[in-house]
Amino acid sequence: MAKIKTLGILTSGGDAPGMNAAIRAVTRAAIANGMQVKAVYRGYEGLIQGDIKEFTTENVSNIIQRGGTILRTARSKEFQTPEGRQKAYENMKKHEIDALVVIGGNGSLTGARILAEEFDVPCIGLPGTIDNDLNGTDLTIGYDTTLNTIMDCVDKIRDTATSHQRIFFIEVMGRDAGFLAQNSAIAAGAEAAIIPEDSTGADQLEHFVGRGIRKSKSSSIVIVSESPKCGAMYYAERVKKEYPEYDVRVSILGHLQRGGSPSAGDRILASRLGVGAVQAILDGQRNVMIGIRNDEIVYVPFSMAVKSDKPVKKELVDVLDTLSI
Ligand code: F6P
Repeated sequence: MAKIKTLGILTSGGDAPGMNAAIRAVTRAAIANGMQVKAVYRGYEGLIQGDIKEFTTENVSNIIQRGGTILRTARSKEFQTPEGRQKAYENMKKHEIDALVVIGGNGSLTGARILAEEFDVPCIGLPGTIDNDLNGTDLTIGYDTTLNTIMDCVDKIRDTATSHQRIFFIEVMGRDAGFLAQNSAIAAGAEAAIIPEDSTGADQLEHFVGRGIRKSKSSSIVIVSESPKCGAMYYAERVKKEYPEYDVRVSILGHLQRGGSPSAGDRILASRLGVGAVQAILDGQRNVMIGIRNDEIVYVPFSMAVKSDKPVKKELVDVLDTLSI
């Protein structure tokens, strides 16, 4: 394989706290190993439009603590077409980018896999998503910060819920994955979590109300994974109809979950994965996501990383159930 002299780097999809720490790590590790770094702005959209600039170590000074992504991000429709990808590849050649590091979630790493296959360019992925739904890695960049943000919000909502003796349905992000809902429910001492991975087929509202939680407690908090059909509003409406004796409220946390300064955990994770990405390139790896398993850096083939079946551990469901009596 030809020697990699210039590394392109971009962030794509939903932003996640810690992306800047990852950009910093990749840039500095690449420069330390004698490579040049080209920053691509606005994800694949910027690659298609040639929105590319050379980065030095100064460009990534003072960003480790900042939320969002200094490279900006996008969900590019054009990149999903062969013509769009052709333009992206042309720009990679024009800017002499020999390999690309993509920081993003499922859709972004799927894009990297297709680009790598179509044009035979080495691509390395970093798991950057608050959802923690990428396979082959215990953690994704942004997940820990978002969990803490949700926990802080739920703690605050608990104060008013208790004062008014109300049931709150709090909707959190996660797209099709319940990691944020399940673990924030444990961290905030919530009474229940309703997650998309639940495969019992049981009516989760019946299950929750059936345990008679309201009889013994002054407030109840149920964390609900976002869902177009059965999000927090759906369950609140049902309680209003089916159990009119309860006073119920909804809180949808929304995009505040994606912002804020990354936690120490996310900064360290992003730094380790970023250095791991450059090491992977030096090792001749391509088309892998850098992950972390049992505290060790691992290389995960894209095809495995983007499989949408990462399980929420049954043990976490049991822990919440046991502790919310
Ligand atoms: O994938 C990250 C995520 O925050 C999901 O949890 C959520 O469903 C989605 O992005 C929201 O995306 P948008 O940026 O389009 O609002």
